[in-house]
Parts: sequence; C-alpha cells; structure tokens
Amino acid sequence: MKTRLVLSNTVTVLSLALVLIALSSFSFAQAKPQPVDAEGHQWWQHAVFYEVYPRSFADSNNNGIGDLKGITSKLSYLRDLGVDAIWITPCFPSPQVDFGYDVSNYEDIDPMYGTLADFDVMVKDGQKKNVKIILDFVVNHTSDQHPWFVDSKSSKTANHRDWYIWRDGRGANQPPNNWISIFGGPAWKFDPKTSQWYYHIFYAEQPDLNWRNPAVEKAMFDVTRWWYRRGVAGFRLDAVDRMFEDPDLRDNPVLPGTTEYGDPRTESKYNAKLPEMHDELKGLRKVADEHNAVLIGETWTKDVAELKEYYGNGNDELQMPMDFLFTKVDKVSPAEFRRQIAGVESSGGWPVFVLSNHDIVRAYNRYGDGTHNDEIAKLMAGFYLTLRGTPIMYYGEEIGMENNDPKSKDDVKDPIGRRGWPEEKGRDGERTPMQWDASKNAGFSTADHTWLRVPPSAAEYNVQSESRDPNSILSFYKSLLALRRSEPALQGESCVFLNRDDPFVLSFLRKNPHHGESILVVLNMSPQPRQLALHLAPYGITQRTATVLLSSPQPSSQSISLANLTLAPFAVFLASVR
Ligand code: NOJ
Repeated sequence: MKTRLVLSNTVTVLSLALVLIALSSFSFAQAKPQPVDAEGHQWWQHAVFYEVYPRSFADSNNNGIGDLKGITSKLSYLRDLGVDAIWITPCFPSPQVDFGYDVSNYEDIDPMYGTLADFDVMVKDGQKKNVKIILDFVVNHTSDQHPWFVDSKSSKTANHRDWYIWRDGRGANQPPNNWISIFGGPAWKFDPKTSQWYYHIFYAEQPDLNWRNPAVEKAMFDVTRWWYRRGVAGFRLDAVDRMFEDPDLRDNPVLPGTTEYGDPRTESKYNAKLPEMHDELKGLRKVADEHNAVLIGETWTKDVAELKEYYGNGNDELQMPMDFLFTKVDKVSPAEFRRQIAGVESSGGWPVFVLSNHDIVRAYNRYGDGTHNDEIAKLMAGFYLTLRGTPIMYYGEEIGMENNDPKSKDDVKDPIGRRGWPEEKGRDGERTPMQWDASKNAGFSTADHTWLRVPPSAAEYNVQSESRDPNSILSFYKSLLALRRSEPALQGESCVFLNRDDPFVLSFLRKNPHHGESILVVLNMSPQPRQLALHLAPYGITQRTATVLLSSPQPSSQSISLANLTLAPFAVFLASVR
C-alpha cells in the first residue's frame, strides 16, 4: 500500500514535471519565431505587404465609404496579385477627425466599417487565402472622445488624469512651452474646467498619452494582446517617435522661418525620438514575438543612423522600421538610389521599402515625367520589389493610380488641407477610392456621392481593364510578384550592384544562395535608349547570355547578350543568369 502510494506520488510528480517542461517549451517555441528558409528568414522577410486605406478600398454597403466586408470581398484579388499581408489603417471607433487616427476605443471596430464579427470573418478568410492582417496601432495619442480622456479631463484628481499630459500655463493665456503641433498652431490646448493645458502633437482632438505612466503602458500592451488573440499578425505603429516628451517640458530651439501653417519653425529636440521609447519598443516586441507577429514602424528619420536605432541593439525592437529616406529620392536617379540603398544596407537591419502611402503623394505622380508615366511605374516596381528587403505597397499603386487633389478648398476633407490651403492641399489626393472597373465610381461603390472622388483616368486605369491587357501596369506587377515568390534568389541576402558608375542604368544581381539560377535586374532610369555591357564573370556567372523572365517593353527575343544590351527609355527587365 505504502509502496503504491510512493509510486503513485512519484508518477504524479513526474507527470507534473513533464507537463511543466512541455508548457515551458511551448511558450519558448511561441517566444522564438521560427525561420521559413535556410538563411534564417522570418515570414515577414519573404512577404509582400500592402496598405489598405479602409475608407477607400471597397464599399460593400454602398454608402460612399469603404468597409471591412468590402476588404474581405477583395482578398482573392490580393492573393492573386501576390500580396501576403495587408496593413489596414485604423478601423477602430473614432470621431474621424483624422480619419481614424483619433481612436476612441482600441478594442472594437467603427460601425462605419462593420463589426467585430466582420473583422473575425476577414481574418478567417485571410487565413484561408494566406493573407495576414496587420492593424494600425495609434500609440501616441487617443481621440479626445476616448473614455480615458473624458475621465482625465473631468477633474485634476480623476483616475485617468495622469494618462495624458496636463500642465499649468506659463501665465495667463500662455501655454506651458513653445511646442508646435505638426498639424499647425500650439501643441497645447487650454481646458477651462481644470484651468490646465493638455498636450497634443497632432490635432487638439488627439491628446497625447503619457507613456511615463505604467498604467498607460499596461493598457496599451494589453491592446496588442487582445488583437493577437483575435488573429492579427502584427501592427504598424503610428507616430512611434512621438511617444515620449521631455518631463521638464523644455522649449524647443527655434529655427529661422515659418511652417506651411505660419507657425515658427522649431527643432523637435524635446518632444521627438526620446530614448525612453526604445524600452517600450522592446516590450512591445517581446509580446509580438510570443505571437510570431511583426512590428512595422512609421519611422521618419533624418538619416540612417536614426533609422538604425529602431531595429534595436540585437534586433530586439521593430522588425520593420519603414525607410522613408527612400521616398525622399523623388527622381529616378541611379546615383541617388545607389547612395540611398547603400545607406539602409549599412544599418545592418532588414530594409523596408515603401514608395508611397496615405500621407505621401502617389508614386505615379512623384516619379512620373508626364510622358513615360506608365513605363516609370513599371520601372519603379521592377526596382523596389526586387531589392533585398520587404516592400510595403500602397493600394492602387499596382494599377498606376494617380493623385486626385481637390480642386477647391470647399472640396477638401483633410483638415490640414483646409488649414493650409492652397500651399498645403492635404492628403485627400492620395486617398481616393480604389479603381476596380470602368463603371460609376470606378466600381468602388454605387453611392451617388463617395467620400472622395475618383479621377477621370479611372476609366482606363482600373483592375478590370488592366487585367485584360498583358502590357498593363497590373499585369507587370502580377508577373513580378509571382517571380519574387518563385525565385529563391529574390528572397535571399545577396544583392550585388553592377556598373556602379553608370549614370543612367541601375543594374544589380540577386544571387541564388543555393548556387542555382541568379536574377539580373536592369533598369534604364533615363528617357533615352541605352546600350550596356555587363561582365558577370567576377560573380561566378559564366554564361554570356541571359534569359529574360519579365520585361517592359516586351523583349524582341527571350535570350539576350550580356555584352551588348539595348534598352528602351525607362526599360526594365529581369533575366535569369548562371
Ligand atoms: C501618421 C499617420 O500616418 C497620419 O495619417 C496621421 O494623421 C498621423 N500619424 C496622426 O496620427
């Protein structure tokens, strides 16, 4: 009896230990995301991301504003295009002062976009189609309608008072310091109820959270956990550099001149990029790693040194800080791009390339020369989608959507456009509805009035028409993304720039890590035809000819001589070489 008891106790202890070991190895497995290839890359390094602006993507209930059911209805299109993950800009309840970047509840969906049930359906359908969902996490501020702020504002002793940044003014009608809002005017608003000012780096309706308060940190970390449990694969962190401010609220140094809103120009020395943010990024990354999720950063930087900091020492912060320095190269110039890419490569991090987004004039307009816009759109695709790194496309880029700026101040929806008109027209132009076909409102909605209007060019530049045309921008993107997926060389580490002094043609070699086929990318970044000779022997390529896999314009022959290449204006080709 006694022996049996001892035995059964031992068995119990042993099984408990086994359960504990199993549990700990389970959480370890969860905490350490697994690579997807022999070079040790993670899923997000192979993926193609695509930004969706939900107001403008697809309108399932035809009220003139896009919604989640609309997005779900287009997941097959996105999968067939070659997209692996979509980043949806904020779709949470919001008074929509900044079109969703003023969140009044982080754990729900704005009724304008649907319901949580619609969200779950979208995630499930995405899982079936291998399209992951990335949400936009507005870390710096909430809406002034968020219950946290409503309470914070109610009295100096309110539970949430210290969740935001409240201070006494310097004197009557004088804000606490000289900080200026990015959207114009002082970054402080006086609240008569408690006779204090609160800080807002964006609109006054977007009060800044106080990340120095551990309760804020906990609540925000929990928000990410809540969505991970619902199946999201990561977050894009909004205005991440603005999380912290100098606790002493020192005045920012004043620079010469004024801003587009007529404010004094200042350097954001005491209210941007404070080192404290890195601890939070490390913390958020730990939570992300537990879910094999990715963190993308809205990381505007003045140089590569600043960009590098976002990866963290030992890559323990953001996996994907967006390289906006790339978007600053506004002309198709091999020298500029070579310099820029060498810069981001020197950061030691995995590059994240973006051509445009909901805050930047569309790439079609920025790079287009007015004569070769379509060729240039394909050229730029052939460029940034074949580099070493992860691209984030912007909806409509794949069909050559252009900016459709408001024609008069009365048409402007974006508040900064109304405030800064006519110098600053706001961001409506790059946020117009996705162009699906040549019908009313380009097939986005059957409503009589959509929140923004599509440009006349939508009759020609739309998914349906371009799907039928093998030479369209869309067909080019599709073939390119298919190659990116099927060719290991395009997913690997090696990217060797060729003919580095050529002022007109940018060319590089993506070598296959497994010694098979390498991919040669050649881009004529000039409006004239060019001749080119490439010597690839130093890179172990012995063949004198290459086989064209994809090109614009169409090649006269599939086999081309590397010693004598002829390129049409703004031509792009990808060829396999051995
Ligand atoms: C950056 C977002 O991309 C932009 O659209 C927004 O207005 C600001 N952050 C404020 O949230």
